[in-house]
Amino acid sequence: MMSDDKRLAALESVKYIKDGMILGLGSGSTVNWMLRALSERIKEGLRIEGIPSSKKTEKLAKELGIPLTDFSKTTKIDLAIDGADEIDGNLNLIKGGGGSLVREKVVDACADELIIIADSSKVVKQLGAFSLPVEVLPFGFEVTVANIEKLGGIPKLRRKENEIFVSDNGNYILDCSFGTIDGAQALHEKLIRLVGVVETGIFSGMADKVIVARNGEIKFLTR
Ligand code: A5P
Repeated sequence: MMSDDKRLAALESVKYIKDGMILGLGSGSTVNWMLRALSERIKEGLRIEGIPSSKKTEKLAKELGIPLTDFSKTTKIDLAIDGADEIDGNLNLIKGGGGSLVREKVVDACADELIIIADSSKVVKQLGAFSLPVEVLPFGFEVTVANIEKLGGIPKLRRKENEIFVSDNGNYILDCSFGTIDGAQALHEKLIRLVGVVETGIFSGMADKVIVARNGEIKFLTR
């Protein structure tokens, strides 16, 4: 089952956590399994502090008794563990399915090491079957929609239960279909230059290791 594989990848990732580390805590259901496993190790005496990448992660981490810190205390993260929506052979990622891409990118980008955990359904030959989440300012988002269309994308304003989805940062998300994405970093660079775009869900050259579980077996992807 897919959720068993998410859990298995999460359990494997916790082995890389060492005493005294500042940890970047990603977001999503796979990361939630990691948080549960991490809280067990904390009960056994492991001392770490985590920086959460979303309000949801912060809430669960608090419920699980995981000590938290923030960027006002430290800008150094030893290890970040996060999920992904798509992973290609060069470890380019699409993230943001849960709407947390901006904070995830801030956290993941300042980590000495980034480990991605996923079930095998996330591994693809080429990115793009999953629509690319792009976080945009609510003000004038219609202009950003038009500009993304000029780049060849089909943006769709994310909604949740009929309401416009609002990110932890108070912004909107455009889920953009570009078909198969050939140059992930090049596409990111075009999008990030558009006025109103806060961040894209392309995480290129960031992941150091990907832990993938498939039918109960672990595989490692490295750059
Ligand atoms: C959250 O915004 C995403 O980047 C998640 O990391 C991604 O959607 C993976 O989620 P699951 O672990 O729930 O599949």
